[in-house]
Order: sequence, then C-alpha cells, then structure tokens
Amino acid sequence: MLVAYFSRSGNTRVVAGLIGRARGAEVFEIRPATPYPEDYLETVELARKERDSGHEPALEAKVPNMADYDTIFLGFPIWGETAPPLIRSFLSAHDLSGKTLVPFVTHGGYGLGNSRAVLASVAPKARLHEGFAMEADQERRTMDRVSEWLKASAAKS
Ligand SMILES: Cc1cc2nc3c(=O)[nH]c(=O)nc-3n(C[C@H](O)[C@H](O)[C@H](O)COP(=O)(O)O)c2cc1C
Repeated sequence: MLVAYFSRSGNTRVVAGLIGRARGAEVFEIRPATPYPEDYLETVELARKERDSGHEPALEAKVPNMADYDTIFLGFPIWGETAPPLIRSFLSAHDLSGKTLVPFVTHGGYGLGNSRAVLASVAPKARLHEGFAMEADQERRTMDRVSEWLKASAAKS
C-alpha cells in the first residue's frame, strides 16, 4: 500500500499520516516542481488558471517503485471545486492500471465538486473506491478573521 498526498496548508497531510500509521503504509508527498505561492489569494488565482487551461504542472518527483503497490490512497484538497491540477499531473505520470485507488479528500465546506470524475477520467484503468472526505479548516476564513482583527487593532492604536 502507498499513501500519496498533496497538501498546501497541512489539512490533508494530517489525514495522510493517520492512514499511513494505521495501515503501516509508505507515505509519499506529491510536490510541484515549482512551489505554489505562500499567499492564499495568489494560489487561488494560479490554481484557477491551471484548472481552466487544463495545465498539468510539473512534479518535483515521481514514485520510483509504483509497480510494488496494489493499493494507492490518494489524498488532496479540493481546489476550485475539483482536484488540484497537480493531482492530474500525478495520475498522468504513473500507470495505475489494475490498482485500487482510494481517494481521501479535505475541503472547505463546499464538497467534492467534480473531483471523482477527474480521477475516473485521468486514471480510467484504476479501480476507484469511494474513499473518504471531510471538511477541514479553510485558510480563507482564518485570513478574513486575522485581517479583521489587524484592521480593528490598527484603528485603535
Ligand atoms: C486554491 C484553493 C482553492 C480552494 N477551493 C475550494 C473549493 O472550491 N471548495 C472548497 O470546499 N474548499 C476549497 N478550498 C479549501 C481547501 O480545500 C481546504 O482548506 C483543504 O482542507 C486544504 O487542504 P490542505 O491544508 O491539505 O492544503 C480551496 C483552497 C485553496 C488553497
């Protein structure tokens, strides 16, 4: 078994670690060759462009021994109501024919969007399981609350 995941702000990383420990599985972090911006809004904008153009950003690394695994737990956040472009890159770069693909997804409260359809179309020969999804903290909410507080405290000083 392999646990492969992409996580920008850490929510999906926590789930990946839990699955890895519970199943005694190897854990592989899917990273882009060029990191996404630190800034949330810049990331949203870039992700939107990549989604709309169908761009598949380059991976920092591939799983060297994919043939050794029968079951892949694949974790990612929902970005722009779908799977992040980097997940398409990951699926295109590896042959998952005949393997069991178990998605685990975190989202900010708006659900899975069309992410399942993306997995089914980019990895058509994998056996796609239902997997796991949960709502997790959204950076936008944190950003709005902190900005409000900073604005209010600037007004007082
Ligand atoms: C670029 C971007 C786009 C997002 N789009 C959505 C969305 O369409 N629907 C949603 O419910 N949450 C959305 N979110 C929130 C994330 O899915 C959620 O916070 C997730 O748990 C982040 O996982 P991570 O910490 O592993 O990166 C978005 C977050 C980012 C950074």
